[in-house]
Amino acid sequence: MPNHEVSPCQLVIFGASGDLTKRKLIPSLYDLFIGKMLPEHFAVLGVSRTPMSDDQFRDHLLESARKFIHGLDEAKWREFAQMIYYHPGDSVLPEAFEGIRKRMAEVSQLRKTGDNCLLYLSMSPNLYEPTIVNIGNAGIVTEGKSWCSINRASRPWQRIIIEKPFGNDTESAAHLNRVLGRVFEEESIYRIDHYLGKETVQNLLVFRFANAIFEPIWNRTYIDHVQVTAAETVGVEGRGGYYDSPSGGAMRDMVQSHLLQVMAVVAMEPPVALEADGIRLEKSKIFRAARPIKAADVPLMAIRGQYGPGQMDGKPLPGYRQEPGVDPNSQTETYAALQLYVDTWRWGGVPFYLRSGKRMAKKLTEIVITFKHTPHALFREQTLKKVNGLTPNQIVINVQPNEGIRLRFEGKVPGVGMNIKSVVMDFDYVKQFNAEPPEAYATLLLDAIKGDQTLFKHRDEVEGAWRSVQGVIDYWKENDDEPLPTYASGTWGPSESDIMMDRNGRHWRNPT
Ligand code: BG6
Repeated sequence: MPNHEVSPCQLVIFGASGDLTKRKLIPSLYDLFIGKMLPEHFAVLGVSRTPMSDDQFRDHLLESARKFIHGLDEAKWREFAQMIYYHPGDSVLPEAFEGIRKRMAEVSQLRKTGDNCLLYLSMSPNLYEPTIVNIGNAGIVTEGKSWCSINRASRPWQRIIIEKPFGNDTESAAHLNRVLGRVFEEESIYRIDHYLGKETVQNLLVFRFANAIFEPIWNRTYIDHVQVTAAETVGVEGRGGYYDSPSGGAMRDMVQSHLLQVMAVVAMEPPVALEADGIRLEKSKIFRAARPIKAADVPLMAIRGQYGPGQMDGKPLPGYRQEPGVDPNSQTETYAALQLYVDTWRWGGVPFYLRSGKRMAKKLTEIVITFKHTPHALFREQTLKKVNGLTPNQIVINVQPNEGIRLRFEGKVPGVGMNIKSVVMDFDYVKQFNAEPPEAYATLLLDAIKGDQTLFKHRDEVEGAWRSVQGVIDYWKENDDEPLPTYASGTWGPSESDIMMDRNGRHWRNPT
């Protein structure tokens, strides 16, 4: 694996007054600072339209840091805040870039960061294109330009981190990739998916490829089906405007992006080496092999739903259509479930069930690998659950919370007689390592500073993932007048989704 070192650099956040900066980026950078993982010469320059001075920006961030950083040490914060600067500017206006460049040069001198810079687009997606074009025209990007192509290792680098959504569909994603490609080389584009930064998703690579015992059974011969669930108890959290827009809805917001990435890590072939290119290539192949769902199959293999009023912990909750910023007749899905097939030698015939929803019964993200029944039901009479003989073995990978891996298998109940019951072997991340998993954004920001693209998406993955679900998106759009299945807030989603599983003789794992 190549040795990725941190080098001096400046992080420029476009859209810095937004939610992501205070909720995720600054807390993650503070953690990296406390852990002494940032480069010695480092600076953050926030850019957005709101007029603010450096100090006002720092005060604004401190206010949220008190809320979002557990165990904030204010003395250390003051030290950390010294590396944060602010420049008011509208990145969609070409003329704003004279000031932005000047400020970048000043900050670079003050903090001795040199010309390396990481440009973070944390803004409304409709502003991506003009901002990228302006960055290109402003001459900030020198990488790939002939005059400085002599010694790659010593020349300054410019990288761009871009948040999801990467387009609303296959076509707009390809367009965005072309726009990016005119300004940046692919190796300088960091398409962030915070699910890839989650510790347990990374651990999946280790689980699969650092152990000899799982890989031989990781295929259609032994595995019956795979479930990936990302359930949230929250609603749209005041983001009704975004969620109800063409980029919103559970399919685009969660399934197309995060869940398909998780599925790809479960399904990919072992890469030849632990390198960004190798891993991303193997994931891309999964998207190529994911069988697009045909229009006629959509009603059977793709379920959407919207949360209605309900309650959680005894508190009444409004339905989606009553949320602020949401059209009272909205047809946006807050729940989506898919049955997908990956047409490869390894996975032929094994269904992958993906689902995600807001206002569900429990906050959890998990991957469930269910194995086939034993070939011969030797203990049929002895099982406590006599319905279908033995309960099949399962590996449950808890992505969050309670990060860990659980293996369910059958055991004998102590005592006379031969009674059989499912038991669990449990690896609990926190107990085992006596440490909380780091925030995904901290991992990803550090990787981008180091120039490691392993946990970022390649353009082929993004476009491939859109292609895998495009048929469903089109069908849902064409049939927008059909009544949308609903589910009460605080439940496990619409009954149509359970019916999809029943039809296959399977059921969702809905942990209590
Ligand atoms: C974001 C989505 O990408 O992921 C949000 O836009 C969602 O709607 C969030 O709530 C979930 O992330 P996590 O890490 O809490 O599972």
